[in-house]
Amino acid sequence: LRLSAQASSPVAPRRELVESVVKEAYDKFRNEAKGKNADYIPYLAQVDSKLFGIAIVTTDNQVLTLGDVNYSFSIQSISKVFTLALAMEELGPDKTFERIGSEPTGRAFNSVPAVVDMPTHTGNPFVNAGAIATTSLISGKDANEKWDKILNFYNKVAGEKLTLIEEVYKSEAATNTGNKALSMLLAKYDRIYADPFESVDIYTKQCSVGVNASQLARMGATLANNGVNPASGEQVIKREDVPYILATMTMAGLYDSSGSWAWHVGLPAKSGVGGGIVAIAPGKGAIAVFAPPLDEAGNSVKAQEVIDYVAQKLNYNLY
Ligand code: DON
Repeated sequence: LRLSAQASSPVAPRRELVESVVKEAYDKFRNEAKGKNADYIPYLAQVDSKLFGIAIVTTDNQVLTLGDVNYSFSIQSISKVFTLALAMEELGPDKTFERIGSEPTGRAFNSVPAVVDMPTHTGNPFVNAGAIATTSLISGKDANEKWDKILNFYNKVAGEKLTLIEEVYKSEAATNTGNKALSMLLAKYDRIYADPFESVDIYTKQCSVGVNASQLARMGATLANNGVNPASGEQVIKREDVPYILATMTMAGLYDSSGSWAWHVGLPAKSGVGGGIVAIAPGKGAIAVFAPPLDEAGNSVKAQEVIDYVAQKLNYNLY
């Protein structure tokens, strides 16, 4: 059977539909004033809270962007997704699960009591404690080698070279007493697998990596595409690891509002206090939105609204 040109033409109207839905969402939410920039990392309080960018990258590498999509913001907690992928690359899913666990904590992302209460003591790879423990799993002869390995892995997932935003790193490194405390608590329970403060420092660097909305959407599209970067065609995350990553994003991607997100939107997603959220439509693509003001749980208000709107209009809800 040969498909005629006419039979393949529905691709074009589909793109038009996606473009118009994204434009509608942009116009509808651009003046949204709810939320507040993160300020516990001093640098983040200074970022222009009106910045607003949307990017979609599909599994066949079509790119659609709107708004401030060239602005490089810190990836923050979204980095946790990709360090988890690298840990699984090195250790496999079973050992990673055994060491980190994967349970919702029902508490804030930086909760200290959660570490004391949880049977696994790290909670899951996306709360700060579990993420620091996950970073500590990455092998290397010293801190520099581990950090290079992490950044190179992110580069492959994004399909381009990413860089550390030095000022974000300095700002967070000067104020991250809470994360250091978490690392010592993890040490008490034998739940950190390298030097605690070295692990916090590497974790702080990974959170300070700069991405723009398009780069973040491509990182997401790599997950949507079973681990193959749609631009480079390279299998950068093992295909068999992807379901574990998406399951974790569903369970804890938006911290203690992950349940309401799954209920309303139905897509695995991950947020960061830099103002980014990336959501994955498996087999289709990813949407990344950047807008700094956050809600109480630490998730970008506008990004949640845009993704919710677009996912509903395009029928992306998985359930
Ligand atoms: O460790 C921290 O607190 C930050 N580097 C990352 C936290 C974060 O992004 C939580 N996100 N919503």
